[in-house]
Amino acid sequence: MSFLIRGLGSYSPEKNITNDDFTKIMETSDEWITSRTGIKVRQYASGTPTWKMAVRAAHEAIEAAKIDVSEIGLIVTSTITADFFTPSVSCLVAGELGLFCPAFDIGAACSGFVFALDTAERYLRTDDGIKYALVISSEMLSRYTDFEDRSSAIIFGDGAGAVILQNASQGVYGSYLGTDGTGGKHLFGKLPFPKYPFYDYEITDMEDYPGKENVIVQNGKEVYKFAVKAMPAAIEKALEKAGITPEQVDFFVPHQANIRIIETAAKAMNIPLEKFIINIASHANTSSASIPLALYDALKEGKVKRGDILCLCGFGAGLTYGAIVFEY
Ligand code: COA
Repeated sequence: MSFLIRGLGSYSPEKNITNDDFTKIMETSDEWITSRTGIKVRQYASGTPTWKMAVRAAHEAIEAAKIDVSEIGLIVTSTITADFFTPSVSCLVAGELGLFCPAFDIGAACSGFVFALDTAERYLRTDDGIKYALVISSEMLSRYTDFEDRSSAIIFGDGAGAVILQNASQGVYGSYLGTDGTGGKHLFGKLPFPKYPFYDYEITDMEDYPGKENVIVQNGKEVYKFAVKAMPAAIEKALEKAGITPEQVDFFVPHQANIRIIETAAKAMNIPLEKFIINIASHANTSSASIPLALYDALKEGKVKRGDILCLCGFGAGLTYGAIVFEY
């Protein structure tokens, strides 16, 4: 079993924040950011909430798929930056689209798009009448960026991507998901402590970083070490499940976290860098939205074509990682 991407959409906010903009608020330089991360510019949502970015990307995906919106039987959104803790982004999207199908969010951070595709594929595979699934990743990381931490502030951006999936009874397919919860302390965002009577517990697990609430806290070196191992591990396992070799893959679409992570992983796997879709320079790290945004840009450029074998690979907070292989 596999799936077919019928249509792809994206939303990238209009407000561009360049590396030079960061030099106005912190001690940094375009040269440092470019050479350490590959990032030149990122977009900030500025007034468009996460769920509305999701709706915009979804509309484009539906239009590209040339389907009637009523034919969608499932909505899964990956996000760690929802506007409400309830209702979910997916429910808000369903309301906007006039749908009453199952709609829920998943939280697997930057691996989220791969986790969401894997989840949707399992629904489509069962015989319960779901014709099309809408899978979205929408993230507003600017909302949780710690502008006092120059090593993490510069890497994040906002955006959304969406796909319409259809069940495909045959074709190349393999998926592998993994989690290393022991590394959760290296990349996290702590919610503010509740202040109410009878309150008598503390969340102390992340005690290495006291006082940081409502912002992303990152140990860059540890995350880097994890990422360069997790990417090859996930790709190898997904390809093994699909029964194909790296040579048979036309393009790898990795999470856009750092150009050096992608280069190092490509080298470790002995795969030419030209086979990797990279757009980090123009969007930065948009968490789970980065993979669909990269795929979207590659399609627009005419790089990826129908019939190509793609391997998407994500890694991120959790720590989570995963890869999924399919025929575009
Ligand atoms: N501008 C200028 N200097 C900076 C800086 C910035 N924005 N951020 C950090 N520095 C400085 C540090 O203060 C340090 O200076 P020092 O040597 O005088 O102490 C020096 O640069 C090196 O800092 P370090 O944190 O060791 O840099 P690094 O090479 O590890 O790069 C990251 C930092 C965040 C770019 C890198 O660790 C990384 O990309 N990690 C993975 C993060 C990631 O992918 N997260 C998302 C996963 S989903």
